[in-house]
Order: sequence, then structure tokens, then C-alpha cells
Amino acid sequence: MNTVIGNDIKEAQYFLEKGELVAIPTETVYGLAANAMNDEAVIKIYNAKNRPQFNPLIIHVPNIESISKYAYLDNLSTTLANAFMPGPFTLLLPKKQLISDVVTAGSTKVAVRIPKHALTQALLQQLAFPVAAPSANPSGYVSPTTAEHVYKGLNGKIPYILDGGATSVGLESTIVEVQNQEVVVHRVGGVNVEAIEAIIGKPVVFQLTHQQPNTPGQLKSHYATTTPLLVGNVEQLLTKFEGKKIGIISFSKSYANIPSAQQFILSPNADLAEAAKNLFSVMRLMDEKNLDIVLAEKFPNEGLGRAINDRLNRAQHFMKEV
Ligand code: TXA
Ligand code: MG
Repeated sequence: MNTVIGNDIKEAQYFLEKGELVAIPTETVYGLAANAMNDEAVIKIYNAKNRPQFNPLIIHVPNIESISKYAYLDNLSTTLANAFMPGPFTLLLPKKQLISDVVTAGSTKVAVRIPKHALTQALLQQLAFPVAAPSANPSGYVSPTTAEHVYKGLNGKIPYILDGGATSVGLESTIVEVQNQEVVVHRVGGVNVEAIEAIIGKPVVFQLTHQQPNTPGQLKSHYATTTPLLVGNVEQLLTKFEGKKIGIISFSKSYANIPSAQQFILSPNADLAEAAKNLFSVMRLMDEKNLDIVLAEKFPNEGLGRAINDRLNRAQHFMKEV
């Protein structure tokens, strides 16, 4: 199959209506979209990504009103939706019957998101159906933040990539679920936990650690680079890997004695939003440099720093012996 990159919403709509896959830009990462009401189309997502069928998909809708066509919204979830949607935020809700088990991998809950990206907003408003869309990368690799990233991973497997430029947030949505009036965070992401707590007036509950297939964002090798990656105190780690070709991912500072081409500073001004935006492309760049190992700083564990640490830690899981 010939994969075309373009910015024509009509073209994207044409393929989605035909039951084909289209990569779409969102403000978090690019998604690999299919008509969520068409099981055959949705199965193509699992095949193109080589994604296990037990790992459910987020559905994307244009506005809050359309959520209740597909899921049941309680009061607290509605409050959260009003505060954070559209945006880098996903709500896990009890599904209505018309949402297929193929989308939810058999779960009675469906994850729903309203992307803010203008192109995809315009596209979703044209469609008569929601789109199911995981990140548009082969399963187990770093999520794509540009159309070129998508092309590298899925070239030949999908007909169209809707190019909306580099994504502005740069890492995936925050996934939450209301359980017994508590707000449970399943995946830290583009909306800060602190912002959620400010809205609900109490602490959230974290459920990030499970390895069960039905727990969001928790498959082991989810963000793996092929180069081994270690997170920690870089100064200390450097002494352990003397003689190796080392790459460094740092927040704002540079390190003496490491060639500058092997160092990636995510934000010279120490701005977490800028760092988040650059993280995944830097992880990809690292993989092109034939390094023995990448050492990454631990980021401040607040705001987007939590999500950055989460993604770096998960990439670390994939580490081979160094
Ligand atoms: O920012 C994002 O959320 C991006 C863009 C494209 O919207 N999407 C994304 O999708 O990151 P994906 O599939 O790469 O990650 C979604 C996570 C997965 O870990 C999946 O297991 C979980 O959400 N998930 C989806 N539906 C679920 C459900 N019904 N129950 C539990 N977990 C669910
Ligand atoms: Mg993903």
C-alpha cells in the first residue's frame, strides 16, 4: 500500500469512511484512527501496529455532547470533562452497548478523548462516527510526535497520514476514571495531576503500577528505544560506564567530557512543557546514534515532570545487559 502524507481533511474522511486507517495529529501524539463503529476497520489498527488484541483503544469524539452517545457520564466525570476537554485528557467511562468489544478489548468501560488539535477537530466534526485511535507507532516503540515519525513506523501499512505538524504537548493524554467519588489516575500525561486536584479539591488516587492488560498504559515495553536507557543521577552513572559511547538526556544542563552531539538538552530554560514536547523526538534521535547506552536525568516529580519520568522509566524496562 502506498502511504501518502498530506493535510487534506477530505482525503482523511474519505479513507475513514471506507474503513481504512488514517494517522491523525493530536496535541499529544499522532493517533492511528479507524471508524470505531466498524469492527473490521478497528481490527486493522491492531494488525498495523502489531498490537495485542487485549489492549483496548481510546475513542475520539469532537465535543462533550457526543460523549454521552457512547458512554455514561456521572457528575464528577462531567466536571472533569468540562475542565479538561478538549485537551490532553482521557476519561474511562462505562460504555454504552453500541461500542464494540473489539474497541474495549472486552471491557465494559470505554476510554474517551476530545483532541484539541484544529485539523483533527475539524475532521471529527465532519465524521458521523467516533474514531478509535491508539498512538500511531508499532506496538512497543516510542509514540510519534511528527508525521515523519508515523511514516517511519507505518509506511506501506496505511493509506494516509494527516500532517498537522509537530505535536504541541508531546506526550500522551492523562487517563482518569471516577471510582466511588475518587478520581483514579491510570496514566500520567498532558494534564497535570495538580490541575485535576485543584478542580476536585482533594488528592487523586494513583493506579499506575499494574501489569494487567486491561490497565491503561501499562504494557511493559511501551516506550522502549532500541538503545539501552538508564534513568538516575547522570554524574554518578557516568563513572560506571567509562569507555562506553554514552548519550545523555538532560533537562537543562550540559555535561563536561561528553561530545555535544551525544547530549540532548530538553529545555535550556528548564521549562517542563518544552521538555515534554521534545522528549519523544530526542528518544528517537538517540536510537540513530549507535550509542552503547543513554543516561537520562530524573526530572522534578511535579507537573509534566511526572509524565516525563513515567515515560523514561518505562523505556528503562526494556534495557538489555550493558
Ligand atoms: O494522547 C493519547 O491518549 C493518544 C492520542 C492518539 O489520543 N492515544 C494513546 O493511545 O496514547 P494508546 O492506545 O497508545 O494508549 C491508551 C492507553 C492504553 O494503555 C490502553 O491500554 C488504555 O489507554 N485503554 C484504552 N481503553 C481502555 C479501557 N477501556 N480500559 C482500560 N484501559 C484502556
Ligand atoms: Mg501507545
